[in-house]
Amino acid sequence: MTSQAVEHPSDVVCRYDVVRGDTERLAEPLSPEDQTVQSMPDVSPTKWHRAHVTWFFETFVLSENEPDFAPFHDKYWFLFNSYYEAIGPRYSRPMRGVITRPGAHDVGDYRRNVDDRMRDLITTVDGGTLEKIRPIIELGFHHEQQHQELLLMDIKHVLSLNPIQPKYTDAPLVTGTAGRLGWQEYSGGFVEMGHAGGSFSFDNELPRHRLWLEPYRLSDRLVTNGEWLEFMADGGYERPALWLSDGWAKITTEGWRAPFYWQEIDGVWVEHTLHGTYPVDPNLPVCHVSHYEADAFASWAGKRLPTEAEWENAAAGEPVVEPSGALHPKPADPSASGLKQLYGECWQWTSSSYLPYPGFHPAAGAIGEYNGKFMSSQMVLRGSCAFTPRGHARNSYRNFFPPGARWPLTGLRLADGGQPR
Ligand SMILES: [Fe+2]
Repeated sequence: MTSQAVEHPSDVVCRYDVVRGDTERLAEPLSPEDQTVQSMPDVSPTKWHRAHVTWFFETFVLSENEPDFAPFHDKYWFLFNSYYEAIGPRYSRPMRGVITRPGAHDVGDYRRNVDDRMRDLITTVDGGTLEKIRPIIELGFHHEQQHQELLLMDIKHVLSLNPIQPKYTDAPLVTGTAGRLGWQEYSGGFVEMGHAGGSFSFDNELPRHRLWLEPYRLSDRLVTNGEWLEFMADGGYERPALWLSDGWAKITTEGWRAPFYWQEIDGVWVEHTLHGTYPVDPNLPVCHVSHYEADAFASWAGKRLPTEAEWENAAAGEPVVEPSGALHPKPADPSASGLKQLYGECWQWTSSSYLPYPGFHPAAGAIGEYNGKFMSSQMVLRGSCAFTPRGHARNSYRNFFPPGARWPLTGLRLADGGQPR
């Protein structure tokens, strides 16, 4: 992980309070019952997210630096460890939803206790120690932001299973006209990719390295629900020739016939969102499709998915747009130029397997487990989504999920030319 120049302790505390406060604001509309449910193994209860990000600071910062450290609770290290083997055994992930104690309010007490101790530590350690621990505190900020996004993806699934169709927010969906899909051309050549330094990045974005790209094109906006309906009407889910073998096996086994949150009621497709359940709007980006579905759509369209290098190279010339606050992807702006909807709408599937960059070395110790050990059987997604917190997205960011995952807020952009798949 790379980090920035020297920072005053009060600035570190200020950033700490902002990130921690954002998590609590996201949990605010949710009752203790909402916060307890685990609707499937991939989904974690809201209160688990709130506690786990707190455990991260307690385990990786306080336990190593606090004089006379004593844990807030002697079993939380077991309950709220996610996947760190070096820390020790942990509670079964698919069973997180059966934990009723600590309750949501108790988790609030845990958070306040760790917050007080973190503020004390940051403002009382000497300058040298603060500089030494600042990279792990910084990692804790970005880790918590990742969980803010997951908290929303997870509660979306929890609420989707409720027939009374609860809303997370009363704000209306943003609608509009997407306009026709256009193309942007790139000459490729000898390019560099990876994080360039000077600010925070995760270790998986490093090292920056060179590679060759053939000329290619990218669609200037995301694929829409309207285009997805055409794919469905043309037998998209029924033609094995369009599908990767694993994808075809998945959709036939699971009976997939539409995106994850679509449901056909009396001949009308409706979509569950955090803003409520609405008829599918053809102008909005299609979302909650797996890599398998995205790839099949691209084949049907006579195109392909971009590689992550193509995406990063093309997006390097575009601004990183901060999220609008809407909790569902918005239509593309037909009057905008360049590549639209790169950030803040849907994470975009690429055709790239999640692999280490040439020369990648995970950090020593438990924190080296953050990214590197997941570099198998997952695909890279680029950009960011409507749930991504402000300040979290960047051009070199590598998100990753298994190719069959549909509960994350994922969509797709098409590519053409260049490297055939
Ligand atoms: Fe985590």
